Amino acid sequence: MDYKFKYIDLFSGIGGFRFAMDSVGGECVFSSEINEYCKNVYLKNFGDYPNGDITKIDENIIPDFDILCAGFPCQPFSICGKKLGFEDTRGTLFFDICRIIKTKKPRVVLLENVKHLIHHNNGSTFRTIINSLNGLGYNVSFKILNSKDFGVAQSRERIIIVATLNSTFDFDDVKTTSPVHIKDILDKDGNFEFLSKEEYTIIDKQYIKIQPTGLIFCGYRNKGTWKKGVRPNTEYLSRVHRQPNRIYSINGIHPTIPSQETSGRYWIYSPEEDTVRKLTLNECYKLMGFPENFVKDENKARAYLQCGNAVVIPMVKEIAKSIIRQQFDKHNYEKIRPVANNRQLVCNF
Ligand SMILES: C[S@@+](CC[C@H](N)C(=O)[O-])C[C@H]1O[C@@H](n2cnc3c(N)ncnc32)[C@H](O)[C@@H]1O
Repeated sequence: MDYKFKYIDLFSGIGGFRFAMDSVGGECVFSSEINEYCKNVYLKNFGDYPNGDITKIDENIIPDFDILCAGFPCQPFSICGKKLGFEDTRGTLFFDICRIIKTKKPRVVLLENVKHLIHHNNGSTFRTIINSLNGLGYNVSFKILNSKDFGVAQSRERIIIVATLNSTFDFDDVKTTSPVHIKDILDKDGNFEFLSKEEYTIIDKQYIKIQPTGLIFCGYRNKGTWKKGVRPNTEYLSRVHRQPNRIYSINGIHPTIPSQETSGRYWIYSPEEDTVRKLTLNECYKLMGFPENFVKDENKARAYLQCGNAVVIPMVKEIAKSIIRQQFDKHNYEKIRPVANNRQLVCNF
């Protein structure tokens, strides 16, 4: 294989970044993950057993690499010093990312996190992240991207941060794709779990609307429906139904697969067949862009958790392609983005 760049996979989980980066010519030279179950799944799929707890790893033993990838857990920073920079990250996992950057000086840092990171701890967490990366000599760009714009039938918004040593990363270069729908990824056969007609209500056609995100909320499970305090004939309003009881049409896209879910209570409606069934575990993985031959954890509850914690592979793949175009492809790089010294994103919150 002719590799284009080397990268490291921190907080690797079950390898969402690994699939994306490998597919665009990346060579993974180091990975780290603390959870033994995730490490085993990673081993089965990539033949590598990740290193453990990042806080215990000496950055000097990490081989040289071009891109640092990390979908790190979000933790509050101490703001005692109020400098909100590298010094204030100590005691957090982001500090471990920073100390690796400081020593290894990769050309690119690619970070992924929940959208809420921007508001976490009243914005100080995000300010600290940006200021720390600036302080380490990096230009920082960030944008909230939604997986639905990358050929995946799931609405999942994530903050993506790209820090670069050379010119600033331009998110306008990241290519989006026309949307696909739940029906496009459904398994053809399997042991499907259908609901009987008494177990759900499909709301009146006149009230069904395609939401701006592309979701089509079309009904709810009768079980646990919150009726108290609801005005008569307004049961169709989605807000009265708790998320696990909502049913979405396969002609739309799916809501975010959450990270805490262990039983995958996602219900889908086929208007053509007039049936409601549970989305299979396999279909959940397809909504994250995992390949059909991906080897999942043999424990279903863990497999659901690992799925909801992963990155959406096609989205990371498009970001990675753009990073290569802008930062590694010499011709394009010089043509499109002249090197600008000291061009840093100033974060005025
Ligand atoms: C949001 S998940 C990342 C998932 C990954 N991007 C994927 O596609 O599967 C964060 C991961 O960080 C791991 N983690 C938490 N603390 C860690 C530590 N101290 N060292 C290494 N990994 C850690 C968790 O076990 C979890 O799998």
